[in-house]
Amino acid sequence: LATMATGALAQDFPGGKPITIVVPFAAGGPTDRVARDLAEALRKPLDGVSIVVDNTAGAGSTIGNAKVARAKNDGYTLLLTHVGMATTPVLYRKLPYNYETDFEYLGMINDVPMTIIGKPQLEAKNFKEMREWIGKNPGKVNLGNAGIGSASHLCGLLFQNELKTEMTTVPYKGTAPAIADLLGGQIDLLCDQTTNTTSQIEAKKVKPYAVTTLKRLTTPALKDIPTADESGLKGFQVTIWHGLYAPKGTPAPVLKKLNDALKVALKDPEFIKKEEGLGAVVVTDNRVEPAEHKKFVMSEVARFGPVIKAAGAYAD
Ligand code: MLT
Repeated sequence: LATMATGALAQDFPGGKPITIVVPFAAGGPTDRVARDLAEALRKPLDGVSIVVDNTAGAGSTIGNAKVARAKNDGYTLLLTHVGMATTPVLYRKLPYNYETDFEYLGMINDVPMTIIGKPQLEAKNFKEMREWIGKNPGKVNLGNAGIGSASHLCGLLFQNELKTEMTTVPYKGTAPAIADLLGGQIDLLCDQTTNTTSQIEAKKVKPYAVTTLKRLTTPALKDIPTADESGLKGFQVTIWHGLYAPKGTPAPVLKKLNDALKVALKDPEFIKKEEGLGAVVVTDNRVEPAEHKKFVMSEVARFGPVIKAAGAYAD
């Protein structure tokens, strides 16, 4: 039996000891939303354990990622993050962690579409007018994101590549503060996940210009928003996947218990209802298996490498 530093037996994990899920972005944002909803769904299969979300933001998620890579490998400190796990190794020439060898991959959670939204004061009534306005104001449009390595940064990069227009990017510790500034008119545009933008769109507080899926979404509040593809950005697609990680060397029985609990959580009707209400799609394929999760992330690093290199969007 693997006896962990805590003296508890891996077999008894979690044994009533609280689990921390590190979210590498500010509270109230889309990554935080997924973590809090998943934590709720993980409690039952983890014997009612309490799960704390620790928002350790900064440097486009790399500070939070590094914190978990260095954490005790006893299963009580986990990381929930998204596509940034695959883009940061390309964007940051030196990272304080190795995405391949410093983590145990616990399985994937969901796929989340993005929306390109504008501040309420924007005159552009649709994607076409917004695109023309950007073209007439090269370098002047303020595009928010959550730092180099964030999903909003990735979408913004691809969006600028397509429009062949530079915008001024404004980084935040997450898209919760970014969307707050959008509502206040401090920034003009933001590409953010539907888990964060659905409520603002529903409340008509922002201008929704496009969704970044190839097919229109079915969520009531989002179903009338045109896709970027039909708006002229042929084939433009950005969906943000999320996964769960533990520090390398976490005992096998603990990893199994965590992955089993994740599988139960992803089938939790409450969790699925919350996710679907925000336009997200819970993983139902084999990406919930650790080996498949890891393989998928490796393939995403390979996919994003050339794209990011072409954009020259390095962090340092
Ligand atoms: C991102 O842009 O990567 C995330 O939406 C940031 C966040 O979760 O706040």
